[in-house]
Amino acid sequence: MPQNLCLACMKPIDPGTHVCPHCGNVVPCLPNSQNSLQPGYTLGRFIIGKELGRGGYGITYIAYDTRLAVVRCIKEYFPKDCRRMPDMSPEIRPGKEREFQQFSDRFLQEARMMGAVSDKKGAHVTEVYDILKFHGDIPYILMEYLDGCTMDEYISQKRSGLPWQEARDILCDVLETLDIIHKQNILHRDISLSNIFRLKDGSIRLIDFGSAVNLNDALNQPGTLYPSSKRYYSPPEQVSNSQQGPWTDLYAVGACLFKLVAGGWPRQYEANKVFPTLKMYGFSVPDKLDAILTKATDPDPRKRYQSALAMRDDLAAVQEAPAGKTKEKKGKLPLILGIGGAVVAAAGILIFTMGGNKPDTNENMAVSAEIESVSDETLSKTESPAAEAESGLEQDEENTEAENIPETRESIEEITKQEPGSPALESL
Ligand SMILES: Nc1ncnc2c1ncn2[C@@H]1O[C@H](COP(=O)(O)OP(=O)(O)O)[C@@H](O)[C@H]1O
Ligand SMILES: [Mg+2]
Repeated sequence: MPQNLCLACMKPIDPGTHVCPHCGNVVPCLPNSQNSLQPGYTLGRFIIGKELGRGGYGITYIAYDTRLAVVRCIKEYFPKDCRRMPDMSPEIRPGKEREFQQFSDRFLQEARMMGAVSDKKGAHVTEVYDILKFHGDIPYILMEYLDGCTMDEYISQKRSGLPWQEARDILCDVLETLDIIHKQNILHRDISLSNIFRLKDGSIRLIDFGSAVNLNDALNQPGTLYPSSKRYYSPPEQVSNSQQGPWTDLYAVGACLFKLVAGGWPRQYEANKVFPTLKMYGFSVPDKLDAILTKATDPDPRKRYQSALAMRDDLAAVQEAPAGKTKEKKGKLPLILGIGGAVVAAAGILIFTMGGNKPDTNENMAVSAEIESVSDETLSKTESPAAEAESGLEQDEENTEAENIPETRESIEEITKQEPGSPALESL
């Protein structure tokens, strides 16, 4: 075992280091959560490090390959309700052997489906190197380690959505990848901001094929299309587990578009209704972007985009709004601040926080213009708390990754609670 590795990032550290200079983690790395392999545990030629995530069937760790001296990612098959045995294998409860084996097979499918698309040119998918077996027959997926965070974590840390142009570019990459995936007859079925990983160089990877299905298998073997859905991201046909296709993943891309730009969810979300437009929330985006959002999230699958490429082409074609419009409203904010006082100031801060726009671009002037017009409304609408409560943005309740960053999440919830002062919340 190499000496002095930080087990959180697997980078070398000097002896006696208390805080890793690379990742800021405490040294020695704190134990992983209950039931997972602990940092420093040796799995064949790999040293297990910090836990990166945990889902229904697997625990993901950073790992160090002592033979090749490289950092890797390992996902262990470990169903959520299992206990760890003294030999570190998951306990298979009596009578549950068949189920355990079925889920293990599905876990292997996850690796194979990732492998089937990751080597395709233009696919932004994590590279899979191998399926390893330890502790008897327990599978471990050996993957490329991605240095970065999920898009959900990214916008939580920023405490805002992204400029729409950035969201557009990210989702174009996602859609190009989905096109490749769909052409392999695979549906991902879990497209969400927690499964879009942002590397430090800004590029993205689609991760987590744990809910993916091969449509050929699904048609031939009834029951393969096991139920799997996530609030906000899953369209009605996925919730009811009826006929799913590329349009099902494309609905989720529409939902990603909303959250990437808005930084939250519409409070009045209803699974069988189209998403509200971003403009309704005061975000200054081109009409075409909102039209794409509306088409992608139509509850009727037939009215949605039918192919990832068609949606990608529409999205890629969305360009900046003419500069004239943004300049026009430039000077209004100070005036309104003078009139509206603290309420509008708070509203302005909030919309900047949620809008993901920096105040030094033309586009941001457009956002401040939206704030201004909404702020006007705010002043007249504050008498109607019921109307205020009817709109707004909320955070993703289903976002398990957010649990890793409680501070950020809490503060965002705090922001979203400030409904009365929020023009974004009142603009519907
Ligand atoms: N290749 C990877 N490199 C770095 N981190 C990863 C990698 N794959 C997954 N992760 C992290 O682990 C978390 C869980 O992985 P994921 O495949 O989404 O499984 P699940 O959601 O089923 O637990 C992700 O949200 C991400 O933070
Ligand atoms: Mg995941």
